[in-house]
Amino acid sequence: DPPSPPGPLKFNGTKLVYDRAHPWKSLERDDIRGPCPGLNTLASHGYLPRNGVASPSQIITAVQEGFNMDHSTARFVTYAAHLVDGNLVTDLLSIGGKTKKTGPDPPAPASVAGLNTHAVFEGDSSMTRADFFFGDNHSLNETLFKQFKDFSNRFGGGFYNLTVAQELRHQRIQESIATNPTFDFTSPRFFTAFAESSFPLEFFVDGRNPVRALSMDNATLFFRDSKFPVDFFRAAAPTGAAFAQDIFKAYPIAAGKNVNGINTFTPDPTSADFSNFCLLYTNFVTKTVGGLYPNPTGVLKRNLIINLRYFYAPISDAGCTELFPYGQL
Ligand code: HEM
Ligand code: MG
Repeated sequence: DPPSPPGPLKFNGTKLVYDRAHPWKSLERDDIRGPCPGLNTLASHGYLPRNGVASPSQIITAVQEGFNMDHSTARFVTYAAHLVDGNLVTDLLSIGGKTKKTGPDPPAPASVAGLNTHAVFEGDSSMTRADFFFGDNHSLNETLFKQFKDFSNRFGGGFYNLTVAQELRHQRIQESIATNPTFDFTSPRFFTAFAESSFPLEFFVDGRNPVRALSMDNATLFFRDSKFPVDFFRAAAPTGAAFAQDIFKAYPIAAGKNVNGINTFTPDPTSADFSNFCLLYTNFVTKTVGGLYPNPTGVLKRNLIINLRYFYAPISDAGCTELFPYGQL
């Protein structure tokens, strides 16, 4: 069976994480990196397997140990990703593209294609990665990263801070509306977009620094080189998407998509949003996971049941009704 997730950190304060036991190493042939600068960095320092293929337990341990992500957020995000992009039989997930290293594939329509897979977790209007419609949705895009730095200069005095996060999130959404005919900003992307705009403030700023402002030198290390700054200390306390709602409130927008080409953004009332968190869980289980696994059998079905429980556990106090689309063990 897939093992129970690891618990919270025993010591959950700040500490040196770019230590002797975790040297940065450049990529070797076949090492995989993907759309998430956090996981890329953890892999390049050996908090995750350097080849970029990991189990959910390894990811939960690494994001807590290396960045002090809080236990609930770590579990919820990791099992969400694993359910749609990972191999539920071998318990392995690629943090980037599809690879044989995750083992034999289950029957279609499941794809087990790693975090690069578009529309199940990865989504449009990322800050430093292009929309899938334009091709590469996972590598650092130099034009977008230049815009990231321009916005940090214009709105943050050379630093990525909350104001920059708000302005840039809005800008990226407007760009996608105006240029990407397939732009989709419905759940889960609606949530992950605001959460990920918050993450650099929480996780890429040194834990000894009380000011939530990320320098462009350090942003370049994380986003481009998958590398901690020298002497880097992780966040001072466990944290999740703390500023997501603040970023949303600066420019509130309904969940929706371009329905008929560019500039046809239309709200989708069937999507979850901040006023209906349980619908995120419900739609993800029934539509997203259910679409990939309409009729599982054997070990696959058993492990779906187990992973869906691990996915629900961290939100069990949110008052959402737990779903058992594949029954219970
Ligand atoms: C983006 C997965 C933890 C920072 C992403 C994306 C995925 C992902 C699939 C791409 C979404 C998109 O932009 O289209 C995960 C998983 C995690 C995790 C499964 C497990 C807990 C973290 C942590 C950090 C982080 C701990 C920070 C230390 C980011 C940032 C982005 C991102 C900043 C946005 C990149 C951009 O917009 O250009 N993550 N992530 N993530 N992740 Fe993670
Ligand atoms: Mg994206």
